[in-house]
Amino acid sequence: MQLLIDNIGELVTNVAGSGEGGPLGIRRRAALLIEEGRVAWIGPARYAPAADRRIDVDGAAVLPGFVDSHAHLVFAGDRAAEFAARMAGQRYTGGGIRTTVAATRAADDETLRGTVARLRAEAMRQGTTTIEIKSGYGLSVADEARSLRIAAEFTTETTFLGAHVVPPEYADRPDDYVGLVCGPMLRAALPYARWIDVFCERGAFDADHARAILTVGQAAGLGVRVHANQLGPGPGVQLGVELGAASVDHCTHLDDLDVEALAMSETVATLLPGAEFSTRSPYPDARRLLDAGVTVALATDCNPGSSYTSSMPFCIALAVRELGMTPAEAVWAATAGGARALRRDDLGVLRPGAPADLSILAAPSHLHLAYRPGVPLISQVLHNGVPQCQP
Ligand code: NIG
Ligand code: FE
Repeated sequence: MQLLIDNIGELVTNVAGSGEGGPLGIRRRAALLIEEGRVAWIGPARYAPAADRRIDVDGAAVLPGFVDSHAHLVFAGDRAAEFAARMAGQRYTGGGIRTTVAATRAADDETLRGTVARLRAEAMRQGTTTIEIKSGYGLSVADEARSLRIAAEFTTETTFLGAHVVPPEYADRPDDYVGLVCGPMLRAALPYARWIDVFCERGAFDADHARAILTVGQAAGLGVRVHANQLGPGPGVQLGVELGAASVDHCTHLDDLDVEALAMSETVATLLPGAEFSTRSPYPDARRLLDAGVTVALATDCNPGSSYTSSMPFCIALAVRELGMTPAEAVWAATAGGARALRRDDLGVLRPGAPADLSILAAPSHLHLAYRPGVPLISQVLHNGVPQCQP
């Protein structure tokens, strides 16, 4: 079965140098042929081959599907009241994580699966074709294992976050909890997880605990990612770089040495502006990172506490307005950047052989994603060549 996307006004390929727009590799008046779920051909619309099916997008922009490399979708309940309290002046400390842990433990599998399915579908409608999903609201051997088992029904990019916070029953013996995470919990997580993550922050896990957990996870074959420098300066970024993490996430409070370490490494800095929006916190400085040569990704951090959005277009708009990114940088960071953060060379790019994961915009250019914030511009999404919604 072939499908031709025809009359594309602006095709963002993310193949640097293959068109205009530097890293975005923009081709104008283009067509794209899909065969067996993959991109088979890209070229000028006037040379478009015949195909079994054809979608005429009438001059619209087409871009790679968003790669949301940071989301916490396995949870129960919501924390709208906590959000309201913050908007009335209260600070975010991460303390509410324990509220969601209690609700998640009390929920049955069907409830958790239903929430992941709903949020996955919500993200897809907004152009996200790949999403990473973390555990981290179970915090017992059984509840972390089932969170990951459910996450793995929806994505291959699953992350074990048993070290999100120390759960209440271990409050006065955090060393014992770290031992549990490194031993039985990790063993139970391994069949379902590709990554390991730690919330390395004051009030969560310090550098020694984080290093111990990440090192043992890495030795067991998991890739490393770190929640780092979100609420204040700290050791998370340096630790991530030291361990060769694929990504350090948040990066809100960085010093010059953090930026330098990132610039000299392969580690991506993943920025999550939905979290600063929803916690009314200062935004990270993407401009400083980009100017230093750091690879930047954008992700939603979708979770019921600090960032209850599944919308990558919203994060792009915030990144442009508040983080100092250009629209082109933000779109790259939300697609190819996310793919780098997940070490997935095959994603975030449209070239022959790549999965046909793409969005058709109700707009002539990628610029409109930031220029028209809050407007539903994603008119159709294809995942592995299959249309997910009709315009
Ligand atoms: O990435 N920072 C730690 N974890 C989440 C917040 C989780 C929550 O508040 O429930 C985050 O922002
Ligand atoms: Fe997070």
